[in-house]
Amino acid sequence: MKGIILAGGNGTRLHPITLGVSKQLLPVYDKPMIYYPLSVLMLAGIRDILVISSPRDLPQYRAVLGDGSSLGISLSYAEQLAPRGLAEAFTIGAGHIGDESVALILGDNIFHGPGFSLLLQEHVPHTDGALLFGYPVRDPERYGVGEADDRGRLVSLEEKPARPRSNRAITGLYFYDNDIVSIARELRPSPRGELEITDVNRHYLARGKAHLVDLGRGFTWLDTGTHDSLLEAGTYIQALERRQGLRIACVEEVALRKGFISPQECYRLGERLGYSGYGRYVMDVAESLRGAGPEERGGSIGAEHGPRRGIGAAVGLKA
Ligand code: G1P
Repeated sequence: MKGIILAGGNGTRLHPITLGVSKQLLPVYDKPMIYYPLSVLMLAGIRDILVISSPRDLPQYRAVLGDGSSLGISLSYAEQLAPRGLAEAFTIGAGHIGDESVALILGDNIFHGPGFSLLLQEHVPHTDGALLFGYPVRDPERYGVGEADDRGRLVSLEEKPARPRSNRAITGLYFYDNDIVSIARELRPSPRGELEITDVNRHYLARGKAHLVDLGRGFTWLDTGTHDSLLEAGTYIQALERRQGLRIACVEEVALRKGFISPQECYRLGERLGYSGYGRYVMDVAESLRGAGPEERGGSIGAEHGPRRGIGAAVGLKA
């Protein structure tokens, strides 16, 4: 399975912050926003990932993330010339997808919750049709909204409905079989001039091949598109990280725990960032797992246990 992170758009709702910087590179507490969706794809076991952004912003993504080899993954880059809709990711990314299935994640979506990585691993290998994730929100009219039957099959779908039929927002993480490429190629722009992801999903819905998995109570899904939601996301991550001494979406740690890199390689990544608390944390995690076999490393994926000696808690969060 291939992965795509869509980090396009003009971020107009975040002006003036985004006048010179891409939204998905803004900090969410201690790391750039794009680390969060990147870690989700990595937790799903996806190692070949295309980052799509505007011609203005792409060089910055390359500077931050490189070719992915230091994380044991492959990152490539493609331009979206104008914000012409989320579904354009599949025509821009057609060559990258090839004849495989694909996961798309929006660069401004933050997912966090116990068991998420297991949930991904459970569903990803069986992508037949479309797999969407629903999340209860207070203001569903801001999102795509779906309903599922008791077997988890999507039965209705609307984009930003004035009168939503349910409180289940469709999150910005989507898994598709290879039909997605031809479906996206046939799409026509919506009245607002964009290739809509919801129209893609309607195709799968019409074929009875769209599935909806609930991310319910106790799970966190945040979007970061406004000044308030950006600050709230940062505060949420800060509170959890300071309390537990565990970092969320630390891509170096994810790469280590997934077995993409060795503890030695992980340690060196931390060294490069050494003067920040984040860098110390990466080194601590690497140290604590130096003697561990791949199974022991992977067993605590999602960083439920963190650095074994707890140094991350003492040192890592002081910065
Ligand atoms: C997009 C999708 C919407 C989805 C949302 C998730 O909305 O069109 O269906 O619920 O992402 O973040 P946008 O952020 O483009 O308004």
